[in-house]
Amino acid sequence: MQEKNLKIIVDAGALQIRIKELGQIISEDYAGKNLLVLGVLKGAFIFMADLVRAIEVPLALDFIQVSSYGKGSSSSGEIILKSAPTIDLAGRDVLLVEDIVDSGLTIQWLINHFSCQGANSVKVCALIDKGERRVLPVHIDYCGFYIAQGFLVGYGLDMNEQYRSLPAISHLRPSP
Ligand code: IMP
Ligand code: MG
Repeated sequence: MQEKNLKIIVDAGALQIRIKELGQIISEDYAGKNLLVLGVLKGAFIFMADLVRAIEVPLALDFIQVSSYGKGSSSSGEIILKSAPTIDLAGRDVLLVEDIVDSGLTIQWLINHFSCQGANSVKVCALIDKGERRVLPVHIDYCGFYIAQGFLVGYGLDMNEQYRSLPAISHLRPSP
């Protein structure tokens, strides 16, 4: 049942259509390469599962987990890698899969970090580019949706660990 404080902005059908498109573009770009898809837990877990099934070239996949010290819901840029990849990145074409790029601090830290580990290339695929609070002008190689503002939940995205299992992406409105 849909909660009153949630307003769907990307439904399950639109998600699948866009992810199929991303999968086609990524498949063309990575033909003949040594693709390692590296998902950022937990937010990207559902996106990652759909994305890898839309990519038609051979790939390996792995997950990492980060935490960032920040005030409230914004990150500070002080990133801790809580869980590192289990696969050696040397010679791999790494595609980082993030749920949301907000300030850009997390993804920029990850690009810098993994660029120094012998990878052949490091690129970014983000489900959502949220322009509202961008601090660093990060380049997102593959972007699902640009959403100008608001706090988003569902399809892996959470607010205090709630709402991740919802099939659509919704704006979470503050309760009255
Ligand atoms: P950044 O370092 O500010 O770009 O942080 C991005 C991270 O903050 C994302 O990976 C999300 O985990 C979280 N985040 C930012 N905005 C939202 C949102 O609207 N909903 C849920 N999580 C968000
Ligand atoms: Mg995240």
